[in-house]
Amino acid sequence: MLGMHNSLVNKYNIAGPRYTSYPTVPYWDDASFSLEAWKSSLKKSFDESNSKEGISLYIHLPFCESLCTFCGCNKRITKQHSVESPYINAVLKEWGLYLNLLNDKPFIKELHLGGGTPTFFSPDNLKKLINGILNTSELADNYEFSFEGHPNNTTREHLQALYDVGFRRVSYGVQDYNETVQKAIHRIQPFENVKRATELAREIGYTSVGHDIIFGLPFQTLEHVEQTILNTKELLPDRLAFYSYAHVPWIKGSGQRGFSDADLPSPELKRKQYELGKKRLAEVGYHEIGMDHFALQTDSLYKSMQNGNLHRNFMGYTASKTQAMIGLGVSSISDSWYGFSQNVKGIEEYYNLLKDNIIPVYRGHILNEEDLIIRKHILNLMCQFKTTWSSTLNYFEELPEVLVKLEEMESDKLLIIEANKIEVTKKGQPFVRNICMAFDLLLQRKQPDTQLFSMTV
Ligand SMILES: C[S@@+](CC[C@H](N)C(=O)[O-])C[C@H]1O[C@@H](n2cnc3c(N)ncnc32)[C@H](O)[C@@H]1O
Ligand code: SF4
Repeated sequence: MLGMHNSLVNKYNIAGPRYTSYPTVPYWDDASFSLEAWKSSLKKSFDESNSKEGISLYIHLPFCESLCTFCGCNKRITKQHSVESPYINAVLKEWGLYLNLLNDKPFIKELHLGGGTPTFFSPDNLKKLINGILNTSELADNYEFSFEGHPNNTTREHLQALYDVGFRRVSYGVQDYNETVQKAIHRIQPFENVKRATELAREIGYTSVGHDIIFGLPFQTLEHVEQTILNTKELLPDRLAFYSYAHVPWIKGSGQRGFSDADLPSPELKRKQYELGKKRLAEVGYHEIGMDHFALQTDSLYKSMQNGNLHRNFMGYTASKTQAMIGLGVSSISDSWYGFSQNVKGIEEYYNLLKDNIIPVYRGHILNEEDLIIRKHILNLMCQFKTTWSSTLNYFEELPEVLVKLEEMESDKLLIIEANKIEVTKKGQPFVRNICMAFDLLLQRKQPDTQLFSMTV
């Protein structure tokens, strides 16, 4: 039985998107995108949904004091904390431009601070940023505010300041507890630091503490993954991300240069790490949420999966759905459901555009009818492991060809195809990205010449 599963992992472990959006970023049609089209798609979405469900805000805070050499995020390394104030002012200015565009006061349903390292900023500056947003908006019912904390520099003052303005969820980057791995990824972070940051958050009143761990890191062995999960068990975070290390050295600005490809686990070992990690996490009591996220039964992410409310956007899986998400800060992506846009990545360029009162987006995609239908199917599959259609609803011309493509996966028992429905089996859940790829018409019409995506496992 195990052997059969192994061969499935080998068969389906190909380069593929993570589907935090459809179309995926490399397939955005920048040529037909314009700032004006983006603004009107956001206005339309906002008018339809703000009073019903509110909007989500993602704020990218890009600074880190030290470079972790595995990191694929957009960050700027500096020890100069004088960068904080100008950046906060710029983000608030960008928010102001969006407020001018929208007709009503936004209701904030979700707010997430990502990075880089949000806790690079002083507690006072973070408070100034959040208050600047809250003073100009309303809170939606059951709002959820969360941030990414670096265990090495998240202080009691950070946690308290953010708690005071409504944050109840924090996720900490852990990666792996082994010293050899930590040295290779240039991130020395003893267990005591994670323990301190986790316990502090709980003491202050955070209701959900998450940890990010990664398999497939340089020099990482099966024993390291096992030990990391044993340590994790001691702290029992409410949520857990168990990411596959995405090796993307071709992305400009990724710091993935500090070790050689030969130091990475073989695909075979990586697969074993994944299998072992999943098994151990289940034994500890974690439930798998969609793809690569886990949660205890008491966490809101688990509850929303049970209620069918799970949603997926650029932040990954989220417990509540909003139609519109505004991304502020360098490189942030915004999503109006009808369109996507991405901000410029360079800090100087970001400041210059804002100085001229221009919303600093530089590319994006406006979805056509076909994109919107496919987007819905991919979201259904990623969040609910099933999708449905009828001759009048969510049908698209090439659906019969998609179903033919899925036949092989059906005979591998990864899914069941019915007249108007596809259901992913338990066995098929780890391969949901592969199933979505069958729906990804843009990927099929133009296969990439070079590798764009990391491996699915
Ligand atoms: C922006 S970082 C977290 C916040 C904070 N900067 C920290 O490092 O603790 C978000 C998470 O992305 C994940 N991540 C970053 N680069 C990755 C990569 N190349 N492959 C897989 N996961 C990655 C890490 O687990 C990391 O904790
Ligand atoms: S992992 Fe976190 S702290 Fe390290 S470079 Fe990336 S964003 Fe910065």
